[in-house]
Amino acid sequence: MATSRRLIILSVLVCLLLVEASEGSKARHYKWDVEYFFWSPDCVENVVMGINGQFPGPTIRAKAGDMVVVELTNKLHTEGVVIHWHGIRQFGTPWADGTASISQCAINPGETFIYRFKVDKAGTYFYHGHFGMQRSAGLYGSLIVDVEDGKKEPFHYDGEFDLLLSDWWHQSVHHQEVGLSSKPFRWIGEPQTLLINGRGQYNCSLAAHYSNSSSSQCRLRGREQCAPPILHVLPNKIYRLRIASTTALASLNLAIGNHKMVVVEADGNYVQPFAVDDLDIYSGESYSVLITTNQDPSNNYWLSVGVRGREPKTQQGLTILNYHPNSASKLPASSPPVTPLWNDYNHSKSFTNKIFASMGSPKPPRNYDRRITLLNTQNKLNGYTKWAINNVSLTLPPTPYLGSIKNGLRNAFNQENPPESFSNDYDVMKPPVNPNTTTGNGVYMLGMNTTVDVILQNANALSANVSEIHPWHLHGHDFWILGYGEGKFSTKDEKKLNLKNPPLRNTAVIFPYGWTALRFVADNPGAWAFHCHIEPHLHMGMGVVFAEGIQHLNRIPLEALACGLTGKMLMTTNNHN
Ligand code: C2O
Ligand code: CU
Repeated sequence: MATSRRLIILSVLVCLLLVEASEGSKARHYKWDVEYFFWSPDCVENVVMGINGQFPGPTIRAKAGDMVVVELTNKLHTEGVVIHWHGIRQFGTPWADGTASISQCAINPGETFIYRFKVDKAGTYFYHGHFGMQRSAGLYGSLIVDVEDGKKEPFHYDGEFDLLLSDWWHQSVHHQEVGLSSKPFRWIGEPQTLLINGRGQYNCSLAAHYSNSSSSQCRLRGREQCAPPILHVLPNKIYRLRIASTTALASLNLAIGNHKMVVVEADGNYVQPFAVDDLDIYSGESYSVLITTNQDPSNNYWLSVGVRGREPKTQQGLTILNYHPNSASKLPASSPPVTPLWNDYNHSKSFTNKIFASMGSPKPPRNYDRRITLLNTQNKLNGYTKWAINNVSLTLPPTPYLGSIKNGLRNAFNQENPPESFSNDYDVMKPPVNPNTTTGNGVYMLGMNTTVDVILQNANALSANVSEIHPWHLHGHDFWILGYGEGKFSTKDEKKLNLKNPPLRNTAVIFPYGWTALRFVADNPGAWAFHCHIEPHLHMGMGVVFAEGIQHLNRIPLEALACGLTGKMLMTTNNHN
């Protein structure tokens, strides 16, 4: 029986391959080993979690319609691993989403798991670890999808650069994680360094050159692992910068001296082009901008990245835009662009409010079937500090939801629906110290193909007069951002929602004390995380799980349901009963 089953699977695979070939799309194969190794991302030696000896991991480059196949081997000695393909919706392959406890078991040390999924839409994406705080440990890389052969992007450019932004701590993620789950609570603090393509310089701003600071050892590095990735350009050309943020914590702002940027893409969707001097980018977001190299070619220009939304204690991340090959390491004539003040939220809001869907992008349904309001609060629970959604702090179950829902394993997670909203008399500006916070792992079960609205409601955190930024990311779907507003969402805000040209994205920010309204169609069978993309916040419970249509899935690969050979054997036996 097992043999014939294998034969059937094999022939299905062969058929799939044939179908692919006939469509003219390709399979892109990668063989990756995830390992810890020594590395100096910011010129200080540390341990990073990387892939095939590279940090950040290798870039995946594919065309829309291609199959990406990543054969991932866990070479870590004492911990499991998974990789999530951020922004890829995984239509029909929810088991390849790479979320531990949600779409699959973590891959055990020594084991190999094959991720096989279709990249159906051109755009700027990335991938990262999605187990514990492995993204903070350095497990990430770029995933770029080009338009399919014979199609064109709706804008012209002569060259492109990929900029993957991240933040880096000197303390290990294990140390950080213990602090977050201790009482008293120990916060991880601000990052030591901001990295551009995994490179930065700790405590040594290249900009020190312009002040009379003593950091004389600061210079443009050459071949070191921490050497800035210089952008070599030619005069009078148009370049596309693909910018993605996989930060653990920091909200960032990016600017290039003397050069305007025209924003054309956000999270893998085209937007109505608009020009800016600087761009805000939150963890989990990606943008494409076009720049024209029309400045004096005998000069170099700074590209600077700074922190927003939290009082920065981290120096700007810097690299150089260089026109002339003979002067690549010449420092620019003027100092780097100054990052807008960290708490100038009006600046952030005015940027966010310029983003609209480009003409011809899909429009949201006029009405919703279900509206879920999610209150974001920071709470105390038995002395521990947690983040909670409608007063439930998410703790993931050991059995992945995808398999437990498919197989009706009722003891695998809380069966009751998590709260759909919060009490009306709740003062978001001055919330009570939520006495009835609980931990939980219930699932919002969504009707297949229903239209779901989510209102994300921000509130005051534990300390008085503090409300933080949270970038929320949805797996398995893009959503329309219908609007942002101040205070508590109310029926009068309803009329202000944008149903005409709301941007389609996979990540949306909530501003301090504000709300953000989203709409999506639950059209993708699977179990999908929806969470704050700040990694320590998620670790402290800031997320929920949606699921739809799992009964429509024919077969979930055994490797996603159980681990090792005994797991596979037991699953097979079970299937026979
Ligand atoms: Cu990039 Cu669930 O995250
Ligand atoms: Cu958060």
